[in-house]
Parts: sequence; C-alpha cells; structure tokens
Amino acid sequence: MDLSKFPRRRLAFLPTPLVELPRLAAAMAGSRGSPRLFMKRDDQTGIATGGNKARKLEFLVGDAIARGCDALITGGAAQSNHCRQTAAAAAACGIDCHLVLGGEAPLRPEGNLLLDILLGASIHWSGPRRKGEDMPRVAEELRSAGRSPYVVPYGGSCAIGALGFADAARELGDQLAAAGIAPSRIVFASSSGGTQSGLMVGSRLFGLEGSGGRPPEICGIYIDKTEGEGIDFADRVLSLANETAELAGLRPRFDAGDVVLRREFTGEGYGVVGELERRAITLAAGTEGILLDPVYTGRAMGALLSLVESGEIGKDETIVFWHTGGTPALFAHAEELLPRG
Ligand SMILES: Cc1ncc(COP(=O)(O)O)c(C=O)c1O
Repeated sequence: MDLSKFPRRRLAFLPTPLVELPRLAAAMAGSRGSPRLFMKRDDQTGIATGGNKARKLEFLVGDAIARGCDALITGGAAQSNHCRQTAAAAAACGIDCHLVLGGEAPLRPEGNLLLDILLGASIHWSGPRRKGEDMPRVAEELRSAGRSPYVVPYGGSCAIGALGFADAARELGDQLAAAGIAPSRIVFASSSGGTQSGLMVGSRLFGLEGSGGRPPEICGIYIDKTEGEGIDFADRVLSLANETAELAGLRPRFDAGDVVLRREFTGEGYGVVGELERRAITLAAGTEGILLDPVYTGRAMGALLSLVESGEIGKDETIVFWHTGGTPALFAHAEELLPRG
C-alpha cells in the first residue's frame, strides 16, 4: 500500500530521527527500573523550527496547489504551532497565508506569533473564537476579491492532513524494523485528532509491529479540557480515522475500542502550565538536552512520567514518545516555566 497517488508538496526533513533516551528513562523510573524510552523527533521536521504539522501540510499544501489555490487560510490560538507552520509552508511555496487567531493583538508579539509575523502572514484577530471559527468569513472576503483560497482546517486535522501521519507510521515502522525495536506503546499529545487518527490508519496500513507480536498501542494524551462543538473528542478521532481509512482504501474500519485516549492530564485547561508540565520539561532538558513545549509535549511527557511513577508502565515496556514540536511557545510562557522563589 502506498500513498503516492495523493498530491504532496515536500516541505519537511524526513525521516525524523528516532533516538533512545536512557537518562530520561532512568530519571523517570527512580529505583523501580525504567522502561526503554525512545523519542521520535518531529520537533526536527524543519519548517520554521519544526513540529508535527509539517507532515499534514505536505498533503494539504499538495492538495491546495493541485486545485490551483493562491492563498492558505487557517486558524487557532495566538500561540498556535499549526498556524506558524502553515505560514512557513505558504511562504516556501510563494503563496499568501491568512491566519485567524483567537484573542486580540498583543502590544508585544512573542513566541509563535512573532514568527507568524516574520513569515509574512496576514493576521485576523477573532476574540474568544480560538478554533478558526471565522475562517469561512475570511475565505468569502478573499473570494470576493477574486482570490482562490484553500481553507486548512483547525489543526490541519482532516482526512487529507491525517495522511501525513499515516505515512509517518510507515516511516517509524521502517526505523523500528532496522533497529530491532518492538514498542508496546506510542505516546503523544492529541488535540485536534489528526496525529492520532493518522497513526491509527498508518499502523494498520503498514502493519506496525509492537511487542508480543501485537501492534503498539496508539496512546493519545488529551490536551484540551473543553470538547469542541459538543462532539466527544474520542468520537471525533474515530470518525477522522474512518474518513482517513476510506481515503487511503483501508478496510476493515475502526470502532470505539480502537481509540486509546487518556483524559486525566488536562490540569487547569488548555495552555495553562502547571507542575506536571514544568517537571517534565525540566527533566527532559536536564537529562537529555531536549526541549519540550509548554502546551502539548510538556503535558504529554508529564502524563508519561505519571504513568511510569504509578507503575502502570513498568520496566518490561518499550515506549516511543512522539515529540510533536511546539518549542517556540516556550518563549511565551517564561514566567510559568521559571523556578519559583
Ligand atoms: C506541538 C503540538 N503537539 C501536538 C499537537 C496535537 O496534534 P493534533 O492536533 O494532530 O492532535 C499540536 C496541535 O496543535 C501541536 O501544536
């Protein structure tokens, strides 16, 4: 099975490295005995400091170009990594980018927002609506001005975008086979669902092999406390996985039992940095020299740390933690990240 029939604009540096993190694993486990811990470094995908959206954007931008579009529109929070990478992808392809961002224009842009501006994106502020709700209005305005915009959905999470992560499962499978590694779980931050559904599809499509001859558990750590539009997030992942499976020609379909989602680590809500995130970020930086981000990977690594500390993940397991990027947001959260006192 290959995905070559889909238009794709190469943007990312692939494959991203798969590295073992023995010092972080040992620090996590204390005297209990550590699991083997690997990290898939999608913070190294390249475009504008890297991140998981580069994989989705290769298929989304490929589709936009195939349709003759001359502008990308997307939306999200002011510190959206997805928006920053979309702006970079548009710049790299010589097309315009319009970002619909939640909140109001700050006096001093920082982190991802600073990069959006440097990348030349036009910014439309949308107040309390931080999930791109105003994108159709901006699209209509551009159409009325004779332009041909392509709307990249929130988080790049539609079936076309998720193909990027189906292909990422193939890439990981090749690396695991070459290194003789059979993971029990793949752990990552899940927020708009494209990463998770793409990995679910890719795991089946390309026969990802885990420990004990079973496929590895695709374990999403839920990031955002609020469920969007009254739709349960696990249902959203399920339907996106099935739409992506349909597009890729995969049968049989998924059912609710196939979605593994841990929801107990959302703390004070989206983007609120607490002790869980602070500890995980400091530990990864101090033991391996690896920077996580405060919103997604810091929370997901904090969740993994909790699962190791509680004994749910023991020394017989092999884990792949998928680093999905987001490091520019560190610079917008300095106060919460610095040691207290
Ligand atoms: C750094 C980072 N990690 C993880 C995610 C979650 O990925 P997905 O939206 O595909 O669920 C995002 C999405 O916004 C992100 O920016």
